[in-house]
Amino acid sequence: MAIRAKALAFDFYGTLADLGSVNAACRHAVADADAFGAEWRRKQLEYTFLLSLMGRYRDFLQVSERALDFTLARFGLSLEASERRRLMQAWSEPAAYPEVSGALAALGAKYTLAVLSNGSPRMLETGLKHAGLRSRFKFVLSADAAKIYKPSPRVYQLAVARMRLAKSQILFVSSNGWDVAGAKSFGFKVCHLKRWDAPAEQLGFKADLEAGDLAGLAEALGATSN
Ligand code: 2OP
Repeated sequence: MAIRAKALAFDFYGTLADLGSVNAACRHAVADADAFGAEWRRKQLEYTFLLSLMGRYRDFLQVSERALDFTLARFGLSLEASERRRLMQAWSEPAAYPEVSGALAALGAKYTLAVLSNGSPRMLETGLKHAGLRSRFKFVLSADAAKIYKPSPRVYQLAVARMRLAKSQILFVSSNGWDVAGAKSFGFKVCHLKRWDAPAEQLGFKADLEAGDLAGLAEALGATSN
């Protein structure tokens, strides 16, 4: 299917930023860092969904810290303050997936690029700078401006309002199945980046396009860097 779009909007955590770098930070503190990191991420997302349903909002750094507390309790662990800081810091200093910078250079020659993330503005600015990606994006949009989290349509609407484009002119890119379903339900064109092997959500909102990584997406869209 040929995708016509003027802009690409990207999810950040797990899509551009490799959450393996958060798990790596856990390695200093816990034995089974991958299981710990996966539980921490699950709980972080669950808390964003719960807060949104409750009609409450706390910023993503606070949510991540509460999710860390839960995960530590679940694993029967307690950490020194310096270790906790180190783990929390990992969300603001993630590594980008290796192909991301080059692929964004190619995509940026053809499309306006934006980040649209549940991350707080500060986490996103710091994280993008740390990953060497900040200059690739014209817009960095945080759910914080809507005081609710994706997949609320109010967050996806931020991209429409700030970029002054119609929903149909924006291709949203995410590796998170819940985010793909939310963005498609909102009315974006959507690319599911299949960074890991998980079945698509069965809610009736199917991505328009799938790619293995950002280089694959650039190729599918005919974007090449010269
Ligand atoms: C995001 O970056 C949390 O991955 C999600 O919005």
